[in-house]
Amino acid sequence: MSKDAFFISGLGHMAFQLAWAGFESGLFSLLYHNGWTEKNKIKDELELPENSLTIILMGLVSLSLLQREERDGGIFYGLSTDMKDIFDSFPIEKWYAIARLHYFVIYDALCCGFESFKAGKNLGLSRIPGEGVTLYEKFQNNETLRNLFYGFMQAISDMANKELAASGVWDEVNVLLDVGGGNGANAIAIAKHHPHIKVIIYDLPATCEKAKEVIEKEGLADRVSVFSGDFFKDEFPSGVDGILFAHIMTIWSQEKNLFLLKKAFDSLTPGGRAFVFNMVSKDDETGPLMCTLSNVYFLAIASGEGMIYKKGEYLKWFEESGFSALESLDFPFYHALLSGKK
Ligand SMILES: C[S@@+](CC[C@H](N)C(=O)[O-])C[C@H]1O[C@@H](n2cnc3c(N)ncnc32)[C@H](O)[C@@H]1O
Repeated sequence: MSKDAFFISGLGHMAFQLAWAGFESGLFSLLYHNGWTEKNKIKDELELPENSLTIILMGLVSLSLLQREERDGGIFYGLSTDMKDIFDSFPIEKWYAIARLHYFVIYDALCCGFESFKAGKNLGLSRIPGEGVTLYEKFQNNETLRNLFYGFMQAISDMANKELAASGVWDEVNVLLDVGGGNGANAIAIAKHHPHIKVIIYDLPATCEKAKEVIEKEGLADRVSVFSGDFFKDEFPSGVDGILFAHIMTIWSQEKNLFLLKKAFDSLTPGGRAFVFNMVSKDDETGPLMCTLSNVYFLAIASGEGMIYKKGEYLKWFEESGFSALESLDFPFYHALLSGKK
């Protein structure tokens, strides 16, 4: 372990504010598009007070997000090689959308992390206005929060859904039910790639309205529809030969995930397949860091019960729900697609 890991943990909230400043000020974007840039030029472009800019630049260099060089009588800054790779592999605007939910919602709500751990409940949710016991219920009646959330969620889904959509697994599916399909990020990617497939997005009412707008905009209303319901209380539509849970099972307890998979088994036509698509933790429970840190969000804010589970846990639930011919495929950014046949 580097001793800095301890300081980053203790002062992580400062680190986040510096990273947020990198996005919000336009600094990351400037350095990504312009390459190495002289400090005075950065100051002119960003219009920040000198002292603030110095603090941001020093902080981001010490976090290894930026590099600094003195040459030709000036001080130059550039993105570190790893940051450039990160922005090359996934667009900066998407990372910015992820950071936006963190800045405006998650950061404040994480005030009572330990209390949430102790109680095993999402006590941080009380910091977010509105009614409901999960983040998803709360944003049904809060458009600003809903838009921030789906900006974030679209970006998380886009990390791997191009590859998900291109996968051959959809060749076998004619009618896909996208349970908790949100604004349609995955349904639309899959429908665009596979002209034979029809997709039904199943979600809470306000989210279905949002999904409808996206479907119309994409011109997919003939093949992508919405079905409004609560997946714990209401039936799934019948006649589907594929059921997808994308970024759903990380929210809920093992018992509820088992309930959802059994419900999927009962609803599928014979020979149909259920799919779980989300990030997975390493089998030895040592990472990846992006996943182990995200666990805190699920427990302390989103629902108070989920986490990023391991592949083996999903496969066990598939088996217990009656599925056979289990399959597991790996996707970018620690995502996996796990599936089983009825
Ligand atoms: C993490 S988002 C995933 C969205 C989408 N599947 C994706 O991967 O981009 C979880 C989704 O589940 C929906 N959801 C949460 N609880 C639900 C419930 N009880 N019934 C139906 N949908 C629900 C939320 O509204 C939200 O759209």
